[in-house]
Amino acid sequence: MSYYALVPAAGSGARMGGELPKQYLPLLGAPMIRHTLDALCAVKQLDAVFVVLAADDAEWDRYDWSPLGGKLVTLRCGGATRAQSVTNGLRAMQELAFPDDWVLVHDAARACITPSQVQHLIAELAQHDVGGILAVPVADTLKRAAPDGCIEATVPRDSLWQAQTPQMFRHGLLLRALEAHPDTVTDEAGAIEALGLRPRLVAADAANLKITYPFDLQLAELILGQRKEIR
Ligand code: C5P
Repeated sequence: MSYYALVPAAGSGARMGGELPKQYLPLLGAPMIRHTLDALCAVKQLDAVFVVLAADDAEWDRYDWSPLGGKLVTLRCGGATRAQSVTNGLRAMQELAFPDDWVLVHDAARACITPSQVQHLIAELAQHDVGGILAVPVADTLKRAAPDGCIEATVPRDSLWQAQTPQMFRHGLLLRALEAHPDTVTDEAGAIEALGLRPRLVAADAANLKITYPFDLQLAELILGQRKEIR
């Protein structure tokens, strides 16, 4: 049984603004995705780290990726949506991966992931029938907005969690799930749930944020910078 990471990195990052795709924005002197891949390549259980790039990606080749070692495999098969990029990546992996091998899908934009968080997910799920995801319990009170911008309702937050990545499922099951629900899901777990299965939630922490808006980039810089100081 093997473990692989699959990193969708074919988005344009429209919510961040600017010309450069989000995954290449500078973060502590390196493109954001470099931090993500550094962490994944350092996980000893992972046999390979597949990166899904847009077919017309013009940035990847500008950087030297050799310090990351031999685990990195690039796939230029990104799709129009995140789900399509992941599906295309899973299909391209088929030459190497067996249906029962585990795949950890992780967003390029979650650059503050640590090897120990990934190892914790693997340890928690290795014996699980379905698989699961890193997630954090919702801390804030949640409001549902009406079209006029006023509060329509307070949504009870008990038992609500925010989904993160990595999301860890077996290759065959995940590909089948995404092919059955290509347009309706926003994460891998959603596709697995749509098959009637119940992925597990593995508690993580808020430092594994998804960098979406400019402020998130500043936050990520603080988190990564502080870790460097501690080392
Ligand atoms: O835009 P968002 O932050 O939701 O994207 C999450 C991840 O999915 C990012 O790493 C992004 O590069 C990737 N993605 C992709 N293909 C798309 C859209 C997003 O690989 N068409």
